[in-house]
Amino acid sequence: MSEKRILIVGGSGFVGWNLASLLSRTYPVTLTWNRSLTPHPRAATVQFGGLHDKDACVSLVQQLNPTVVIYTTGISDPVRAEKDPATMMLTHTNGANHMLIAADYIKAKSIFISSDYVFAGIEGNYRESDTTIPFNALGKAKLSAENFIRSRSLNHVVIRCAPLLGRGTLDHPSWLDRLRDPALPAKKITLSRKQVHNPVHIRELATAIDRILQYDIRNKVIHLGGLTRISEYDLAMKFLERFGLTREHVAPFDSVLEYQYQDYSLNFTQSLRLLKTEALLLEQSFDLL
Ligand SMILES: NC(=O)c1ccc[n+]([C@@H]2O[C@H](COP(=O)([O-])OP(=O)(O)OC[C@H]3O[C@@H](n4cnc5c(N)ncnc54)[C@H](OP(=O)(O)O)[C@@H]3O)[C@@H](O)[C@H]2O)c1
Repeated sequence: MSEKRILIVGGSGFVGWNLASLLSRTYPVTLTWNRSLTPHPRAATVQFGGLHDKDACVSLVQQLNPTVVIYTTGISDPVRAEKDPATMMLTHTNGANHMLIAADYIKAKSIFISSDYVFAGIEGNYRESDTTIPFNALGKAKLSAENFIRSRSLNHVVIRCAPLLGRGTLDHPSWLDRLRDPALPAKKITLSRKQVHNPVHIRELATAIDRILQYDIRNKVIHLGGLTRISEYDLAMKFLERFGLTREHVAPFDSVLEYQYQDYSLNFTQSLRLLKTEALLLEQSFDLL
């Protein structure tokens, strides 16, 4: 086991729980949960609901004494994010800031999981140095947390992730789990044909974090995406076809908001060079599911 000790804040969620599973093979991991927890075979678990309270965050981090704090709390669905500004403010802004301050007090590295929604979605193929102009509430909240971390911490990494592919837990199913929910054919699901991302398997996020720790990368923004640029609707169709599931319940989103093509894809050339990782095609990510 490595001497580095990882604390995953939001470890009960889809991203946090998968990171705990993959990283706990090499590092001792403690994860926090708030309302729901799927017990983890290798990670220690702590219930924590005090993200709004800076002193509670500092006291938690001092007590656990990690060398790395990974912040994975929050909302990943931009539509839900627009409807729930209170959770957005608490988890993406206040909570992230308090945990960063707490990590800084004990000189731990902070890793913040951000999103491709910090960009405007006009040109696509965004590099780390490109101008960030978020249009939705999720992107704005992520950018505000990014700016706080970058202005305040001397040992941080911000990872902007494209949508992550993988399996979640019962309490926190992934987007793909929801698509293959046996109850779903009874419902209709509408997805965008015009909003394009370059999704990546969650294993690649764990590998990137492992390399960041091995090479002691500091004070960088890193992009993580896959080789395939695809719309939500086309991704769902390919996924259902690949696993032999019915596609009848999925329809293209038909709205005036769909008038414009939006490309949020991330250029990840720098991270391949820096972290010595490989990029995957969508089909290769499906092989890992
Ligand atoms: N999923 C993706 O494809 C993706 C891509 C890029 C970035 N991200 C970012 O990664 C983060 C996690 O996404 P996810 O997909 O893992 O979401 P998720 O499955 O819904 O998990 C959300 C996590 O946040 C915690 N949480 C929510 N509200 C909380 C509150 N008020 N107080 C304390 N904890 C709270 C949940 O804990 P409890 O359930 O225990 O309350 C859970 O651990 C988000 O910030 C998202 O923007 C995700």
